[in-house]
Amino acid sequence: MQVGKTEEHPLKEFYGDIHGTYDRINRIFTFGRDVSWRKKAASECLRFNPEKVLDICTGTGDFILELAGQVSEGVSLTGYDFSGAMLEVARIKSQVLQAKSEVPNIAFVEGDVIKMPFKNEFFDALGITFGIRNLIYENSNADRHLAEMCRVLRPGGQLVILESSRPQNGPWRLLNSAYLQFFLPYLGGMISGNLKAYRYLARSSKNYYSMKEMGTILENAGFVITKSEPLFLGSVMLLVALKK
Ligand SMILES: C[S@@+](CC[C@H](N)C(=O)[O-])C[C@H]1O[C@@H](n2cnc3c(N)ncnc32)[C@H](O)[C@@H]1O
Repeated sequence: MQVGKTEEHPLKEFYGDIHGTYDRINRIFTFGRDVSWRKKAASECLRFNPEKVLDICTGTGDFILELAGQVSEGVSLTGYDFSGAMLEVARIKSQVLQAKSEVPNIAFVEGDVIKMPFKNEFFDALGITFGIRNLIYENSNADRHLAEMCRVLRPGGQLVILESSRPQNGPWRLLNSAYLQFFLPYLGGMISGNLKAYRYLARSSKNYYSMKEMGTILENAGFVITKSEPLFLGSVMLLVALKK
């Protein structure tokens, strides 16, 4: 299935349908590990004390909220996503967090990654957790999405990616595939009420790039990889890159 054509947005529809159960299903499917993966990705993103950070495909905001919890005052945080429904969940969660503790304000901006309303080289760091797959897997606009990400990041700025990955280890890869094919779509479909969305999410995870392939894609898009770390025996990857 080719997705990401601006006129139809099948993904936007999927996320509009599953926003209410998205966080719960994430916790179940990753056995709660996604929380610590985002923590790790956030500390990578903040390593060089960026002043302006953009979370692309922010969704229900778990990554940007993790960033908010780790940064000091004065850092500008922006969460960007084309699903108004997912962003609404993020906004409510950020209000709850702000009522409880002193965290910086987060700007949530609704729009498509294909054309972002930010100046060239505006951000010091970009993060994208479980979102890049949506932008480049079987997506006719993959190159445009990558070019746009590169455009808004300053030269030398960091890009941090957390994403599903195809494990290297054969038996684990088989188990991982079986889990994604036979378990995730049905449980996700049952909880969210949208089997089609979880079929897509499971299939795109199962067939997604290995860490090495993803590294090559990023190098070709204008980044230099500085860190590649397999998580959960390689079912997930953490990649850190610098814009050339
Ligand atoms: C799997 S969710 C990831 C959410 C969050 N980053 C996390 O860690 O859970 C992917 C998000 O990407 C958004 N998305 C997909 N394609 C997009 C595009 N072309 N432009 C903007 N947002 C997009 C979806 O709306 C969805 O909220």
